[in-house]
Amino acid sequence: MDLIIKNGTVVTSKETRQADIYIKDGKIESIKDSGLYTEVSAAKILDASNMLVMPGGVDVHTHLEMPFMRTYSTDDFRTGTIAAAMGGTTSIIDYVIPKKRESLKRALDKWHKKANNKAVIDYGFHMAIVPPVDRVLNEFDFLVKSGITSIKCFLAYKNSLMVNDADLYRILTKARENKILVCTHAENGEIIDYLTKQFLKQKKREPFFHAYSRPPELEDEAVCRVIKLAGMTKTPVYFVHLSSKGAVKEIKRAKKDKQKIFAETCPQYTVFSEHKYFSKNFEGAKYVMSPPLRKYKHCSYIKKAIKEGVIDVIATDHCPFNFNKEKQRGLNDFTKIPNGMPGIETRMPVMFNEMVVKRAIDPSTFVDLNCTRPAKIFGLKQKGDIKEGKDADIVIWNPDLIWKIRHEKLHENVDYTPFEDYVVTGKPIITVSRGEIIMENGELKAEPGRGRYISRQISKQAYS
Ligand code: URP
Ligand code: ZN
Ligand code: ZN
Repeated sequence: MDLIIKNGTVVTSKETRQADIYIKDGKIESIKDSGLYTEVSAAKILDASNMLVMPGGVDVHTHLEMPFMRTYSTDDFRTGTIAAAMGGTTSIIDYVIPKKRESLKRALDKWHKKANNKAVIDYGFHMAIVPPVDRVLNEFDFLVKSGITSIKCFLAYKNSLMVNDADLYRILTKARENKILVCTHAENGEIIDYLTKQFLKQKKREPFFHAYSRPPELEDEAVCRVIKLAGMTKTPVYFVHLSSKGAVKEIKRAKKDKQKIFAETCPQYTVFSEHKYFSKNFEGAKYVMSPPLRKYKHCSYIKKAIKEGVIDVIATDHCPFNFNKEKQRGLNDFTKIPNGMPGIETRMPVMFNEMVVKRAIDPSTFVDLNCTRPAKIFGLKQKGDIKEGKDADIVIWNPDLIWKIRHEKLHENVDYTPFEDYVVTGKPIITVSRGEIIMENGELKAEPGRGRYISRQISKQAYS
């Protein structure tokens, strides 16, 4: 059915205007100044008076049903994408993680099976390249043909996902040939491994030793190393989940030198400090993730970098594990706490509150960071913008509604939210995906399986 969204304040990355949007066959047919669509009668009308009308969120860093640290992240493509839709997100890119010695094709088939018939919003995939890397370099052509135009290298997680420097160099070289964007988790895995063993020897096992074993300097160093290697091979790189001041400074410098670099952070690195690890009753485990939370000066610097345009993308790194189940494995040993936290449902509200309501950025910049730029960087041609011809993925947002985040009200399949009691101004009221209303006033309106796989294009931002 055709749809008209009337009387709203339409926010794109470029402008904010009073306009009406006419949606036909799942796409944005036209946009006109408010009040000019009186002649169209066949359409359902949504009145968005006093609301912001923004592109649906694009979350380019999720881990759904991910095998990790001897367990699985607890949201699958059904629950994870429902939670995303509830929070105003209309597309995600999830990381395929191949098993050791598994072909990329086989790993990709598995991820298609996980997502197919389950997702309520559209989704794409990145591919992780894990050791041994030799046998998969010849599959990069296959990746691009399959719509996967970005890969990920972990420089942390020694003895599981970590690639060494020579592997990284070869991956960067081959990725450039195929015009693939290389994402890196940049932390020095060798030294983290050494420090971790030292702490365990000294019987230092509480959650805060997770943070002590991965100090910010190890992120700064790894970012610097990747910048240098990527500079040698002339490969564009995208840094995921940046958390440290030093790392972002390195990126700022390299961007100034015109190196093709993209930077992502996540809400948790702007809101929480390492104090969380000292919570009683093992509650610090809820915040065990990599990189870890840092001191407040890092949060402030990340927010400054967002404001200054050094950070390109806000994503979630959504990787949930139950506090009362999976996280408890690490009760007597922080190395056994599965790394990761939920955030797919809270990303847009938390960042709207933290950055727009607190007047650090304007609504257009918010849209750019959470919707438009992630879509552009990762070749999601039809997503992330309100423009004629694009998919009608839209969120209608009440900018004045004040509410408190409560786990019991969220849809993420996990037994806590790290944002419990965080007070937000601004809330998604209606989520539209390809012209269909999939969430209205907190109620799901979509059937699992309606979400489609997005075959992505080569990133023009990276390779132009
Ligand atoms: O702790 C985290 N971030 N878990 C998910 C895997 C990753 O490193 O992105
Ligand atoms: Zn990571
Ligand atoms: Zn991640």
